[in-house]
Amino acid sequence: MLRPRRLRRTAALRRLVAETRLGIDDLVAPLFVADGLDDPRPIGSLPGVSQHSLNSLVEETQRLVDLGVPGVILFGLPKPEDKDSSGSAAWHPDGITQRALRAVRDAVGDEVVVMADCCLDEFTDHGHCGVIDARTGRVDNDATIDLYARLAVAQAEAGAAVIAPSGMMDGQVAAIRHALDAGGFSDTAILAYAAKYASALYGPFREAAGVTIENGGDRRDYQQDVRNRREAAVEVALDLAEGADIVMVKPAYLDIVAEVRASVDVPVAAYHVSGEYAMVKAAAEAGWIDGPAVALEVLTGLKRAGADMILTYFAREVAEMLHG
Ligand code: PBG
Repeated sequence: MLRPRRLRRTAALRRLVAETRLGIDDLVAPLFVADGLDDPRPIGSLPGVSQHSLNSLVEETQRLVDLGVPGVILFGLPKPEDKDSSGSAAWHPDGITQRALRAVRDAVGDEVVVMADCCLDEFTDHGHCGVIDARTGRVDNDATIDLYARLAVAQAEAGAAVIAPSGMMDGQVAAIRHALDAGGFSDTAILAYAAKYASALYGPFREAAGVTIENGGDRRDYQQDVRNRREAAVEVALDLAEGADIVMVKPAYLDIVAEVRASVDVPVAAYHVSGEYAMVKAAAEAGWIDGPAVALEVLTGLKRAGADMILTYFAREVAEMLHG
């Protein structure tokens, strides 16, 4: 009789038959950099994560490089007084994200894949991911993707190796691909937030990024409804047809990750989002769970579901653990 327990007897046996291996090579660290900061500012709802100054951003990136983490994704945060209705501080050549990209690339070159989140919500005074159409009150899709295209080119010029559009406008990947190619950046890749849901799990990110949506609003008008599974397949297919090099699922819902992995041949990324990180940290701090063990278990689960890379606030901590 086949007895599965035979293969569970020793740690070495379990290692030998392990189907999934979480490794440092799977990790991408999200990093925040705020304009005008002299010292890093810890983010209360994301213990262990800070808004960085330009200097501390470079130091943190260097630490990640030394640990062997292959990717970082930068989120630039403007001074509150620089926000406006279209988020124009975002694509300024000397905007915070562009300065951060240059500083990081100068320091670490191609030792780490430097990605840029390509969205406007950190830069708009109303907190939405694009410009508002005065007539409809909705985010104006086509006006917004023109701005994303400008932003993507500014980020590529500043040294981003990968552009990661996260605004969930229709046609955003095509608009960005076209602008990058026209601007001489045909080697710059696109990691598309392809299946991105309107999730309450982004709460701590909003604190981290200083984003408040006006009038108690939300993003259900452009991000996906959490009740929908097939819709994710539609979004992924569109982004691939438009030229996405990598497709991402966010939050990293396991059913969606598994389904996307089974249906595409490009790399699949999963974003273990701020609220999930915060819950693990909070429960660990209360002594209710073993935080590091849960972190490894959750991220391993994402690999098991089919993720090829994981964006996670645990990147540094887990890389340190995996080094032993
Ligand atoms: C939009 C963006 C968000 C996140 C990443 N990019 C917030 C949103 O869509 O409201 C959330 C990430 C997280 O919660 O960890 N620029």
